[in-house]
Amino acid sequence: MTHAKLGVCYYPEQWPPDLWPDDARRMADLGLSIVRIGEFAWSRLEPTDGNIQFDWLARSIDILADAGLDVVLGTPTATPPKWLFDKMPDMAQIAADGRRRKFGSRRHYCFSHQGYREECRRMVTLLGQKFGPHPAVTAWQIDNEFACHDTTHSFSDAALSGFRVWLNKKYQSIGNLNRQWGNVFWSMEYADFQEIELPNQTVTTANPAHWMDFYRYSSAQVCAFNRLQVDIIRKYAPGRDIVHNFMGRTLDFDHYDLGRDLDVSSWDSYPLGFLGDRMDVDDTHKAEFLRSGDPDFQAFHHDLYRSTSAGRWWVMEQQPGPVNWAADNPAPDKGMVRLWAWEAIAHGAEVVSFFRWRQVPYGQEQYHAGLLRPDGVAAPGFFEAQQVAREIADLALDLTTTETADVALVFDYPSAWAWSIHPQGAAFDYFNLLFGLYQALRKSGLSVDFVSSQSTQRLSQKILLVAGLFSWPETLRDQIAEFSGPVLIGPRTGSKTDGYSIPDGLPPDMEALFPGLKVSHVESLPAAVSMQADRGGGIKYWREFVDYDASRQTPLEQVAGVPVLLKQKNLYYLSAWPDETLALRLVKRLAVDAGFPPLSLPDGLRIRSRGSYTFIFNYGTSVIDLKQIFADPKPLFGPAELIRGTVSILGSAATIK
Ligand code: GAL
Repeated sequence: MTHAKLGVCYYPEQWPPDLWPDDARRMADLGLSIVRIGEFAWSRLEPTDGNIQFDWLARSIDILADAGLDVVLGTPTATPPKWLFDKMPDMAQIAADGRRRKFGSRRHYCFSHQGYREECRRMVTLLGQKFGPHPAVTAWQIDNEFACHDTTHSFSDAALSGFRVWLNKKYQSIGNLNRQWGNVFWSMEYADFQEIELPNQTVTTANPAHWMDFYRYSSAQVCAFNRLQVDIIRKYAPGRDIVHNFMGRTLDFDHYDLGRDLDVSSWDSYPLGFLGDRMDVDDTHKAEFLRSGDPDFQAFHHDLYRSTSAGRWWVMEQQPGPVNWAADNPAPDKGMVRLWAWEAIAHGAEVVSFFRWRQVPYGQEQYHAGLLRPDGVAAPGFFEAQQVAREIADLALDLTTTETADVALVFDYPSAWAWSIHPQGAAFDYFNLLFGLYQALRKSGLSVDFVSSQSTQRLSQKILLVAGLFSWPETLRDQIAEFSGPVLIGPRTGSKTDGYSIPDGLPPDMEALFPGLKVSHVESLPAAVSMQADRGGGIKYWREFVDYDASRQTPLEQVAGVPVLLKQKNLYYLSAWPDETLALRLVKRLAVDAGFPPLSLPDGLRIRSRGSYTFIFNYGTSVIDLKQIFADPKPLFGPAELIRGTVSILGSAATIK
């Protein structure tokens, strides 16, 4: 009954063709059912301009198909070959400091370059025509990891002319743009759209409204680049799933906008690489989870990306052993590759695909583990993948649905851009604000659905959280008005208009819902400073001083005599960045309001329910007895006492003590 399948990423062009049949057989024997190929193969598909060589790809697809494997075919547009790059030298991405990014690795293109888009249209059309009808090609991946290596924002001539056209369309008249951006400030007024430059390399900060529109423009180019390919694949490969692989902590383009054009969102999950390189955590935390990965970082992205394409999502690349790209690259603890796969399945993944089949002995990633060593012998990850495949088959769990979670957490990419453009405090980071709340929810045993700020679907979760939302879409304020459970509105929400200025009525700009509540002024704090709250925990980084209507709003928490939490019926306003302890206390309050037990999970232990199952994972160092949490736990699978790296599953009878 289970929906979950396992897969692997494979590069036939990197291995002698006489290895392909054996590889395919071993993949099938291992219990894999899907293989992603092709996404970096342009130089072999078209070695010189117009010299199309698809026969080798056709042969490798047939070999995989003969072994009973389905294929995800990647479009090769993340790696334009040298002849193409030299044909159009201005297709290169230009970095903010004016540096031209050269050929010699990957993603060396500018999304705005119309000539490159035409080359992609040509290549993807040829691939679609040739392989669209192939019965084994059941899905297509568009490009690879948009935004990777800091490539969303390009300061090229192509971007400049595209930006001017985009602004003209948006503002219609230059007077309107001057007004909306507030260009009277510092005499920045323009007489014509052709006078506008890109916002980099100014003497001091460029106008934040200028940057904000450039971020919006750049995000729209990524979506347009993706859509161009999606439309071609839909035409030639009707009924096949169209997928893109997102990355961890990558906010440069709006994944909700892009996800609308996909059938399935997926992402590339590298728990140990992320802990080392993508998380702002201290060395103690890094040491504690060195070989197991952060307990919440992957789950956060599983939940986030599930929400970007109407619930269907995969893990396209799963770390199988040490990677090559973080500052340090430890090996996972025994059991972790298996645990990560089950955590993804618990969150609703349809596919978990390992990166990569065989470690490649040359090129940039020669230290990156695969399921096989370079000599073809099974590496440790192979056996864990095999174990998961067997368990999926043996358990036959009924995992055909993913229910609505307990909590709706609004996520908004433009808010991340807004606060990176003008943080007003070095530590203010949108991802970290949302991640901190997510951690508190997960440590309290609650499940989370992310929700786009633009969502108009009625929210049926029991708790709603909105924090750091730069500007209100009217529809979201309506959602809040209709929401009957507890709603927490967090700091900096509604503090700007869409045009990046302070709203007339002052933040949080929700007079109809919170009459009389106004942020009169704010302060940001250095990372080393924290302030104690009266009832435990405290605040850091950011605090707001609010005027409020004492006949409607009650202060519940204070810091140095100033309220930081106000309540009005089911609505809470949190006017500061909560530390871990305060965030946990707040979440507990919301949980109790919504009728959940006030649970605090032991360190490193996490749970996720799906269908009638509760999945339990131990990322931490302590041994945890399920009796600490559940009344009379009888695992369907796994031990009742969990050491690090173990997974247990409880059936419908699981009740929290
Ligand atoms: C991903 C990428 C893969 C490979 C992998 C290595 O970001 O999509 O092509 O480079 O990282 O961990």
